[in-house]
Amino acid sequence: SSYNVAVVGATGAVGQKMIQLLEERDFPVQQLKLLASSRSKGTVLQFKGAEVIVEEATPESFEGIDIALFSAGGKTSKQLAPHAVKSGAVVIDNSNGFRMDSNVPLVVPEVNIEDIQQHQGIIANPNCSTIQMVTALKPLYDRYGIERIIVSTYQAVSGAGYQAIQELKKQTEEVLKGEEVTKKILPVSSLPIKKQIAFNAIPQIDIFEENGFTLEEMKMVRETKKIFHDPQIQVTATCVRIPVVYGHSESVYVELKQDYNLAEVLNLLKEAPGIVVVDDPANQEYPLAIDAAGKLDVYVGRIRKDLNHPRALNMWIVSDNLLKGAAWNAVQIAEELIKNAQ
Ligand code: A2P
Repeated sequence: SSYNVAVVGATGAVGQKMIQLLEERDFPVQQLKLLASSRSKGTVLQFKGAEVIVEEATPESFEGIDIALFSAGGKTSKQLAPHAVKSGAVVIDNSNGFRMDSNVPLVVPEVNIEDIQQHQGIIANPNCSTIQMVTALKPLYDRYGIERIIVSTYQAVSGAGYQAIQELKKQTEEVLKGEEVTKKILPVSSLPIKKQIAFNAIPQIDIFEENGFTLEEMKMVRETKKIFHDPQIQVTATCVRIPVVYGHSESVYVELKQDYNLAEVLNLLKEAPGIVVVDDPANQEYPLAIDAAGKLDVYVGRIRKDLNHPRALNMWIVSDNLLKGAAWNAVQIAEELIKNAQ
């Protein structure tokens, strides 16, 4: 059978990838509805060689829709996802709007696909930085248990949307030409104070919480516990925006619950779904953002024993934040949903 699918945020950085993946994966789409804000009404996009006209997303947009992929920010999801559910659609939501709701499964297919059975209309896609980290840690979690994670991220500007990509390119040109730098979007588009991203590193992604951590950092903390169903896992995160367009990189220190063997860790990672090990220091091989860009997998390398803690190891985890970190994880969930239906 085939399905009526809506993409909300179709003109955005993630929405564009969702459309591309539905096409590449040959998802059984009967009708594709492309939705965005009123600004994009009438924009013509391509799907499987046909033109699809973008419509404004409204509460009435979801009649007859079976699956709605949302990536238009938390506010839009909060407003429209309940209407989509009422219309009978299953919503796969890439925003932060519902992730921590107890009746909304938060799903990374390689980690907790069984949770989709519990959905009540909405399934949430985790934060991009969380997705790639838990995908890489899942085989270690299952074999040894995880006590503690300390992660620092090196995040691409595309995670902040299409306009942030434009901002990095423009600022880079301005700096090279010796012109004054234009700052409109980063670090947080809704806040008045802006920072230069070109030739810089910004230790702020999303707003600050009262505990001194940013919301992006707290997403990694809270979502990791929820996805593993393990509130005991200790997570400390520092999230940093860097002048890269596609692909988040992460330095991860992980303390296991049991002693481990490094060769076994390498084998577990190599055999796990969705992971590619790139780890050959003698030949200077390790994961790079520019190599992960455009790919669906999570790349892991620089895997090494910690010097001090006997149950700890360090690694470097890289993935395309718009694909596994967002659009691909959502489409994977959609593929699992229809597998269950058949
Ligand atoms: P639009 O292009 O019409 O503004 P990005 O993350 O790349 O900035 O993309 C955000 C996506 O969310 C875009 O497709 C954008 O549409 C869409 N969007 C933003 N605000 C709304 C809204 N109020 N209703 C529907 N879609 C929205």
